[in-house]
Amino acid sequence: MAVEVRPLGIQCNLACRYCYQNAQRSAGNTYNAYDIDTMKDSILKIRNVKRFILFGGEPLLVPKSDLEKLWSWGFEKFKTNSMQSNGTLINDEFIEMFKKYNVKPGISIDGPGKLNDIRWAGTLKKTREATQKTENAIKRLCEEKMYPGMIVTLHKGNARKKHLSAMCQWFQKLDQMGITSVRLHVLEVPNEKLRNSLALSIQENIEAHLCFAELETKLKHLKFDIFQDIKRLLVAKDHNITCTWSSCDPYTTSAVDGVEGNGQRTNCGRENKDGIDNRKSGTPGYERYQALYHTPQEYGGCKDCRFFLMCKGQCPGTAIDQDWRNKTEHCEMWFALFEHFEKELISKGVTPISQQPNLYLLENAMLNIWASGSNIPMQAILEQLEQTSNQEMESSNQEVEPLKN
Ligand SMILES: C[S@@+](CC[C@H](N)C(=O)[O-])C[C@H]1O[C@@H](n2cnc3c(N)ncnc32)[C@H](O)[C@@H]1O
Ligand code: SF4
Ligand code: SF4
Repeated sequence: MAVEVRPLGIQCNLACRYCYQNAQRSAGNTYNAYDIDTMKDSILKIRNVKRFILFGGEPLLVPKSDLEKLWSWGFEKFKTNSMQSNGTLINDEFIEMFKKYNVKPGISIDGPGKLNDIRWAGTLKKTREATQKTENAIKRLCEEKMYPGMIVTLHKGNARKKHLSAMCQWFQKLDQMGITSVRLHVLEVPNEKLRNSLALSIQENIEAHLCFAELETKLKHLKFDIFQDIKRLLVAKDHNITCTWSSCDPYTTSAVDGVEGNGQRTNCGRENKDGIDNRKSGTPGYERYQALYHTPQEYGGCKDCRFFLMCKGQCPGTAIDQDWRNKTEHCEMWFALFEHFEKELISKGVTPISQQPNLYLLENAMLNIWASGSNIPMQAILEQLEQTSNQEMESSNQEVEPLKN
C-alpha cells in the first residue's frame, strides 16, 4: 500500500497535456494550504503504514524548509522517504536532502528532448529547457548512485513506429547509467479530443510494448515492471503485484491512501473522473470483478477470457467510457501481451495458469472470496486449494488432480 502525501494537492509547475489531474484543475479543486502536524497525524492513522511517498502535482514545489520537516520526521519514523516528481526542480540542495533523509526519487519523463514535448511547460522553449533539467537530474542522481524509478507514459508523441528506435536507444542509455526500473504507463485518455490527438491506436500500443519487451531481453539492469508483472501473473506468483492487477475498488483504492494538505484521506487520483476527490470509504467491495466475470465482452465485461484472473479487467481508472463498472479500454492490448508471454512460457515447457484445464476451480474460489468481501492473491488461493485437495486425497484415497502452481 502506498501512502501518497499531497501537501499542495495537485499544484504543478508543468501542464502536461494528458495529466489525469486536469479534471480537478478545471473544476477549480486546487488549494495551497497545508498543515504538517495534521498530515503527520493522518499518516500515522493509516493501518500498517511503513513509509509515505510525497506526491502532487509536483511535490518539490513545497518550500524546502517544510520538506525538511516532513522528510526528517519520515526518516526518524520509517528510516526511508520517497517522492514522485517531474524532476525539473531537482538541484544540488535537493540532492543533499535526498541523501540526508534517505529519499528514494521517482521521476516521470516520456523520453529525451522532443519526445517529452507533451509534458508541457508553457512554450516549446520552456518545455525543452524543463526536459533538459529532468534529464540532467536523472544523470546526476545516477552519478550519486540514487537510481530513480522512472515512469514513462506512452502516446503519439513518443511511441509511434517512427519513435521506437530513439526510445530504445534512450532506454539503453538509462540501462547503462544503472536505472533498474521503468514503469510504462498506457495513456489514460481523459477526453475524446485528447484521444484523437494523443492516444496510440491499439495496434501501435501493442507494437510499442512488444518492441520494449524485446529490448528488455538485451538490457543489463533495466526492467519494465509491466512485463515482470504479466510473467508473474501467468504463473500465479502474484504476491505484492502492481495495484492495476489487484481487483481495485475505486471507492477505497486499497493500494493507494492519499493524504491531503488538510489531513483529509483520499483515494488514488486515477479514479477521480469528475474533478472531485471522493472521501475514502471504509469497506472495500468487489462487485466490479464479480460482474466483469459474468458480463459478455461486447457489453464491457470479461466473460470467458482465459486471462481474467490475471488481468481482472485492469485498473478501474482506465475503464471503458470512464465507467469503473466496465473493463479497461486497453483490453485488446493487455490480451495481446498476455498471449505473447503465455506463448513464451509454453515454449519453455511451463504451463501458465491460463492454460490449466481446471482453471475454473481457481476462478470459482476467487469469486467466492470476492463475494465474501475479501481479496487475496491467486498464489494464496492455490496454496489453499492444494491443501484441501491433499486432505481430500488422504481421506478418500482418491486421485484429485491439483492445480499446478
Ligand atoms: C500525476 S503525476 C504526479 C507526480 C509528478 N508530478 C510526476 O509527474 O511524476 C504521476 C504520474 O502520472 C502520470 N500520468 C498523468 N496523467 C496520465 C495519463 N492520462 N495517463 C497515464 N499516466 C498519466 C504522469 O506521467 C506521472 O508519471
Ligand atoms: S508534472 Fe505530473 S502533476 Fe504536473 S502536469 Fe505533469 S503529470 Fe501532471
Ligand atoms: S485506480 Fe488504478 S492506479 Fe489507482 S489504485 Fe486503483 S488500480 Fe491502482
